[in-house]
Amino acid sequence: MTAPVSRDGVQELGESVFPPSEWRGDAKTPLDADTAFNGFISTNVVFALEQLGLFAWFDEADRLDVAEYCRVRQLDEIVFRRLLSAGEAFGYLIVTGDRVTPTPAWSELRRKIGFFTWGVGGYHDVFASAASIARGERVFGKDVLRNEAMVALGSAQADRALMRHILDEQIAELDFSVIADLGSGISERVCRLVKSRPGARGLGLDISASATDLAAGTVERYELTDRVQPICADVLDVLFRGRRIEGADQVDVAMSFMFLHDLLVDPATRMDVIPALRKAFPHAHTFLLGDTTVRPRGEDDSLPVFSSGFELAHALMGVPIYTREEYENLFREGGLHLRRTIPFGAPHTYLFVLEAQ
Ligand SMILES: C[S@@+](CC[C@H](N)C(=O)[O-])C[C@H]1O[C@@H](n2cnc3c(N)ncnc32)[C@H](O)[C@@H]1O
Repeated sequence: MTAPVSRDGVQELGESVFPPSEWRGDAKTPLDADTAFNGFISTNVVFALEQLGLFAWFDEADRLDVAEYCRVRQLDEIVFRRLLSAGEAFGYLIVTGDRVTPTPAWSELRRKIGFFTWGVGGYHDVFASAASIARGERVFGKDVLRNEAMVALGSAQADRALMRHILDEQIAELDFSVIADLGSGISERVCRLVKSRPGARGLGLDISASATDLAAGTVERYELTDRVQPICADVLDVLFRGRRIEGADQVDVAMSFMFLHDLLVDPATRMDVIPALRKAFPHAHTFLLGDTTVRPRGEDDSLPVFSSGFELAHALMGVPIYTREEYENLFREGGLHLRRTIPFGAPHTYLFVLEAQ
């Protein structure tokens, strides 16, 4: 077994990958009923406090004046005080009269806030409909929807707190003039990478028209209108139905994040996705593919944040997800050489760095 190499907290190995110890998680199972019930309420309280600006506030200040805060934001002071009191009961805040301060537990919530936005904001209707989906009375995509904007916001928050520095380290090693992001959401990531590489250009492909509209705003904000092009496109059309993307043949690095599993839903084309990707970007020398995997089941009696939600949400949506080994096999069969597999911040999430052969 190859010995682990650690650079700035990033583990990177040849054939062996040792997941960070944090991925084992701190939630001891079985979760007793009291913890489980309070967990449900506390995720909702944390999400509400985020929506009401408390995390942004405490990034800048070490205390908050309740009356003033409510007056400026036109909040119902009674409801807001109840939320703060719940936050205090959960051990996140100290409320003394009109003054609120965060406890040490706040910074951990801050780092992981993206998962609360993703889970509560994005998937609350899906989780709440689990029984009717199981009975076949309701179907995801028809009777039950997720909140796409909250999913995108949660992903962006998790990226900023946990993942960005890991990608940047890999990107720094690569030569590229044109980079493409598939399932690019609002094109934040492609803009950031192009901005930091003088002369580079970028493409951001996403199926969502509203995300592509927002991406135009991102491009303007980064002052990259001449260098980054958001394109509304179904990547499956590009891979399998002959849709041509102008500039695809100039792409030298293609990447996708939290999206590969969406391309693999149809078992009939699953094994063709990687060869089709290589064909769609014929001059790409490197593919950077990041995705969350199935949590390996073992002896652990603990759970990390996110994994249980990611697995259940995709089951309820009817979207299969994969183990790390299944992904690595898919790449091998598809003719990509795995340069390295890197733990990518969020639990059981990996960045696969792949070379075209
Ligand atoms: C979970 S989000 C990830 C967004 C972004 N890559 C990130 O990491 O924050 C998946 C994205 O893929 C897009 N998407 C889903 N299916 C797609 C398809 N067939 N073609 C292009 N984009 C797609 C969605 O609109 C969404 O923006």
